[in-house]
Amino acid sequence: MNFEKNKIIITIGLFIIFTFYSIILYTSVYKNDQSTNDTNHDGKLIWQKYNCGACHQIYGLGGYLGPDLTNEYAKRSEAFIIAFIKNGNNTMPQFDLTDQELHSLMQFLKLLDSSGSSDPRTFKINTNGSIEQE
Ligand code: HEC
Repeated sequence: MNFEKNKIIITIGLFIIFTFYSIILYTSVYKNDQSTNDTNHDGKLIWQKYNCGACHQIYGLGGYLGPDLTNEYAKRSEAFIIAFIKNGNNTMPQFDLTDQELHSLMQFLKLLDSSGSSDPRTFKINTNGSIEQE
């Protein structure tokens, strides 16, 4: 009988821990306050229209023929990126984008870069298993 009583106490204890843990976890969820505007949105559509993602990754997701472009904006100058898109090279095809399209695409790459680093080695791992960026 004593054994049954302990089982009930342990079950209630675990339930209380589970409830508190859930409350803490769901009230501290990361909130994305990054504002997006129309230019960024257009840039994303251009990224999709020309299928950049077939060869390039954003946060490690996408094709693997070309490099990850999440932080490309910080690594290279706008002039370099635009020249690369316009001219291409042996492995990257060239694209005839209008100035407006290029401008929107640059805004999109700028926003991507400001959203964090795509390099997982810079991530901080929390005790609850979630990750954070400094
Ligand atoms: C067919 C595959 C393919 C597509 C589609 C493609 N790229 Fe690339 N891209 C590459 C490859 C491969 C490289 C690496 C070239 C090299 O370093 O020699 C590259 C390199 C680049 C670079 C230079 C990276 C660096 O820092 O050296 C930029 C910027 C870039 N691509 C932007 C774009 C954009 C923007 C689009 C969409 C409009 C796009 N690419 C579409 C294959 C592609």
